[in-house]
Amino acid sequence: MGWSVCPGPLLALWLVRVALATVYFQEEFLDGESWRNRWIPSTNDSNFGHFRLSSGKFYGDIQKDKGLQTTENAKFYAISSRFKPFSNKGKTLVIQYTVKHEQKMDCGGGYIKIFPSDLDQKNLNRKSQYYIMFGPDICGFDIKKVHVILFYKNQYHSNKKPIRCKVDGFTHLYTLTLRPDLTYEVKIDTDIIESGNIEEDWDLGGVRKMEKSLPVQEHGDGLKDWDKHFLDASANKPSDWNSELDGEWQPSLIQKPKYKDGLKSENMDNSDYKDVWLHQKIENPGYLQDFELSEYENIGVIGLEVWQVRSGTIFDNFLITDDENYAAEFGMKTWGRTKSTSGVLCVVMGHYH
Ligand SMILES: *[C@@H]1O[C@H](CO)[C@@H](O)[C@H](O)[C@H]1NC(C)=O
Repeated sequence: MGWSVCPGPLLALWLVRVALATVYFQEEFLDGESWRNRWIPSTNDSNFGHFRLSSGKFYGDIQKDKGLQTTENAKFYAISSRFKPFSNKGKTLVIQYTVKHEQKMDCGGGYIKIFPSDLDQKNLNRKSQYYIMFGPDICGFDIKKVHVILFYKNQYHSNKKPIRCKVDGFTHLYTLTLRPDLTYEVKIDTDIIESGNIEEDWDLGGVRKMEKSLPVQEHGDGLKDWDKHFLDASANKPSDWNSELDGEWQPSLIQKPKYKDGLKSENMDNSDYKDVWLHQKIENPGYLQDFELSEYENIGVIGLEVWQVRSGTIFDNFLITDDENYAAEFGMKTWGRTKSTSGVLCVVMGHYH
């Protein structure tokens, strides 16, 4: 196996890093049947399949490798757990868990969903709105992929670059990292499988060409390079507008009719417009980054909402944190503990035997 022992300074560094991590959610199912107090099965459909705690037919450690296992064939499953709501604005978001398809997986989901805190857990179903869906999906020969679906501006957006998932019967560690600079990373078993920029690898609907509106106090002579626009005072907020998801609503901009020889355009009644906004023309091709692409307010529930033809999948070692190093350490401490890995591993926790 080739374990090596960490030198002292590395350990000290690790402790400093971990001290700064915020762990929003962590679940290893180490306290027997108490998980039933934390995980709420949906009763939206009386036909939903049941989960049980199990380490399966083979495992490294019969206790520590226990996780939520699907138990009935050809069923939908829906279960979720709540945590203190948080926003990932300006912070890294890491979502990680392990999944084992020890049955021969023919068709079924192995992914997780992250929901806003207002999710009605008892009614969780396929249509419940989520923020992020992440993880493997297998069906027949065609579908063997890792989904990374992001909810943005009232729509779900799938990752454009196909990511292949593991199809064997062993436990695998899946990690999704979304960073505030709009880079992302998908890891399987600590290997980076895909990475890049969220704006490029998701089709988020032309946001790259978005122009920027700037509020101004007064209009001086220095505005020649700008087109003057006005807020449309007659515009109404759409009834389905969600301020939390879409941002604060603003009326659309109307271009001010042209002035002619210093005279006001006749069909222009200034009282209908609020003369407070300028519309900045983007002179150079280039674009403004929309940093809200992967920002979510009130993240508050993690759930499993999957269909499985042949049951037996085990979900375990859930983690949501803002710290990539903490996630890597937690991954090694859980998934890495009992799985044989090639290469040299830095044993920080000292619990190996
Ligand atoms: C299932 O959830 C939907 C959406 O929340 C709701 O309209 C429906 O009444 C629920 N069904 C049951 C049986 O609770």
